[in-house]
Amino acid sequence: MNDNIRVMISKEEIDRKVRELGEKITADFKGKDLLLIGVLKGSFVFMADLVRAIDLPIMLDFVSAKSYFGTTSSGVVDVKIDTHLDFAGKTIMLVEDILDTGKTLNVLKQMLLTRGAGDVKITAFLDKPARRTVDIKADYSCYTIEDRFVVGYGLDYNEQYRNLDFVGELIL
Ligand code: IMP
Ligand code: MG
Repeated sequence: MNDNIRVMISKEEIDRKVRELGEKITADFKGKDLLLIGVLKGSFVFMADLVRAIDLPIMLDFVSAKSYFGTTSSGVVDVKIDTHLDFAGKTIMLVEDILDTGKTLNVLKQMLLTRGAGDVKITAFLDKPARRTVDIKADYSCYTIEDRFVVGYGLDYNEQYRNLDFVGELIL
């Protein structure tokens, strides 16, 4: 079925890395009020694994947004699904499948800060720094990858392959 996909990161490797990341976040945010906000749809698999690896009384929610960049540098974000949790003064962890150009997370981060978040951190399962066009970094990430198009573990190509339990490179 998946003849055109080359395995890059196996399920076993992902499990181990996500568990390690959960332990790190648990240590770093001990005693803090942490709200994790996943960016739909790509983050849903990673989010499900990550929250179960964090041993803290967290809250979680999801948002869905599209960012448009015209002539302004800041960009406009069209929020399709918003959070209704009260996050004033709280630390928010934005959770993404992959940090690519950085535009989406940059705009979401600014929006949440404008609306009163105490602090906004970024966790991206994958980081593709070669593609960055805005000045934003992941505070936490499982893997840094080269500029290749990958699918699986939530990541899609034309809405397909999100359900693969590994990350693979699509050979078109
Ligand atoms: P950006 O950082 O605003 O450019 O957007 C990141 C989004 O682009 C991610 O949430 C993914 O949905 C999508 N994306 C970027 N690179 C890939 C990839 O290699 N495979 C699948 N989706 C990707
Ligand atoms: Mg996508």
